[in-house]
Amino acid sequence: MVAARWNCFSFQLVFAISFIFSIAEVCNGGRTSSFVRNSDLSRDMPLDSDVFRVPPGYNAPQQVHITQGDHLGNAVIVSWVTPDEPGSNSVFYWAENSELKNSAQGIVLTYKYFNYTSGFIHHCTVRDLEFDTKYYYEVGIGNSSRRFWFVTPPAIGPDVPYTFGLIGDLGQTHDSNSTLTHYELNPAKGQTLLFLGDLSYADAYPFHDNARWDTWGRFIERNAAYQPWIWTAGNHEIDVVPAIREAIPFKPYTHRYHVPYTASGSTSPLWYSIKRASTYIIVLSSYSAYGTSTPQYKWLERELPKVNRTETPWLIVLMHSPFYNSYVHHYMEGESMRVMFEPWFVEYKVDVVFAGHVHAYERSVSSHPLF
Ligand SMILES: [Fe+2]
Repeated sequence: MVAARWNCFSFQLVFAISFIFSIAEVCNGGRTSSFVRNSDLSRDMPLDSDVFRVPPGYNAPQQVHITQGDHLGNAVIVSWVTPDEPGSNSVFYWAENSELKNSAQGIVLTYKYFNYTSGFIHHCTVRDLEFDTKYYYEVGIGNSSRRFWFVTPPAIGPDVPYTFGLIGDLGQTHDSNSTLTHYELNPAKGQTLLFLGDLSYADAYPFHDNARWDTWGRFIERNAAYQPWIWTAGNHEIDVVPAIREAIPFKPYTHRYHVPYTASGSTSPLWYSIKRASTYIIVLSSYSAYGTSTPQYKWLERELPKVNRTETPWLIVLMHSPFYNSYVHHYMEGESMRVMFEPWFVEYKVDVVFAGHVHAYERSVSSHPLF
């Protein structure tokens, strides 16, 4: 059995920790950070902040971000927004040491939310990538095209070291910027970010001003264009406001953040699984039905027996609302899902469950699982 060495770094209004998988280490719970957060709430960064800057050039791609594009890790979904017209759906990509430029064709979509109309949102799945390889990619046309890069994970296997970062409840305040910078500068060098829900907090604005989804996309691009962010939906993604006839749950989120849910037999982008290096990661939705015979329940019931611990010894679950929380805020909100799913987590020996929602850090340690 592979054991873990935990490196916990610091906790801000939103927390960011990284952890390292390594072999043949004794499990060590680590140390609590000495960080004490400011008692004042951090304000959203103003619209003219440099982190929200629109890239130069006509119709230049913005809000570029990537996520895993299949179940095994040799595909990537590249997403971006063009503001003026649809432009090209193509992604050009090539391995670092290759002359051969490949291209993949994606889709473009738009959506309306009350009095807001989105830009042209592109999603393109780049497939058949080699494992453990650096790729460059380009989106956009001519002078407005933009180039980024990513590194694919190593092939799935039990003894494959890999470093994940964790961020939840990020938002776009000045503290959000510190959190992302903290992650970027962390010497552990996270290779993939597990995002635990609550992305932009656009719903804090009148009529859920979706322009704040755009600023958030531009804010995170500096990291999310270069390494996959694995998405989990939170309560700030629900965006249902019957008074303005917005009745479709998760509308902005599901248009903007695509995930490879069909690859794990899921019928919804809100719950799905991926394998990456030595991990099997299951993403659940705290704000979708999970009672007996619901699609999420049935999917998870079929999913857990599929995990081959010889191949992926680490079984990780992501969700937004925690099963255990001793704070006043959001106390016991995860209780009904805990009643439904915790017995399975114990039976299938889930290693660790990561949740967000409560803007403070705590963990509980037991033999199985770690919450
Ligand atoms: Fe939340």
